[in-house]
Amino acid sequence: MTDSPTPALTKPAFGAALATPAEGSAPAGAASVPLVVAIDGPAGSGKSSVSRAAAERLGYGFLDTGAAYRALAWHALAHGVDTSDATAVLEVFGDFDYAISLDTTDRWVRVGGVDVTAAIREPRVTDAVSGVARVAPVRHAVTELFRRLVASAGLPGVVVEGRDITTVVFPDAPVRILLTAAPEVRAARRSAELTDQDAAKVAAALHQRDAADSTVVDFLTAADGVEVVDSTHLDFAQTVDAVLRVVETTMGARDGR
Ligand code: DC
Repeated sequence: MTDSPTPALTKPAFGAALATPAEGSAPAGAASVPLVVAIDGPAGSGKSSVSRAAAERLGYGFLDTGAAYRALAWHALAHGVDTSDATAVLEVFGDFDYAISLDTTDRWVRVGGVDVTAAIREPRVTDAVSGVARVAPVRHAVTELFRRLVASAGLPGVVVEGRDITTVVFPDAPVRILLTAAPEVRAARRSAELTDQDAAKVAAALHQRDAADSTVVDFLTAADGVEVVDSTHLDFAQTVDAVLRVVETTMGARDGR
């Protein structure tokens, strides 16, 4: 993908743009409304890496929605804002200029032209993100942004992952999956990812974030019509296969196969 995200989107609350997979990877005249595979799940369920791998196998785009909340937390911190102060968060949201790539092989996130792909994964951002994700007007505007990003992607499909995707952002998606895993397995996976941090501390932080986030969205219970994929006893490849089986079965049933 090139440096400049295209096409740019104009939107009322804040600026945003997206980049889609490299030319040639989407069929010419791709469906005007991409097929949405909506995947929810808590931290450590593997939803981000599993969703991306599933998108790759399907030849779809991938939208990591948590990146938007993380980028806003980064933006708030850059302005010296306490992210537990909803009014202050709303204020800096006014000039939140967000861009994200939907390309599975060329992922980046930018705020005001600054590449924040790595910075939004820093512990200081992770610690601050629940505060911004709790602000209702922010959630509404960001939800609309996600819908616009997907609608204008020019792709046959997009795998969208987050915490409220099957229930709030795309409740009518043809494929909706809740990816879960037992809490101790999720904590172990997270601490394996964050090798420089103490396992007990990682588990405590994960449980704390689950608790804070679950006051905003219930991402631990499957809504009606949502398929559960429990990865507690599955490795990564088996989890991706399980997700792809749900996609295949659901689309097959829909198409009368
Ligand atoms: O999945 P993640 O850890 O990157 O998510 C970052 C934060 O954003 C986390 O606090 C959950 C929140 N989030 C949300 O509230 N809704 C979403 N659709 C995605 C993430």
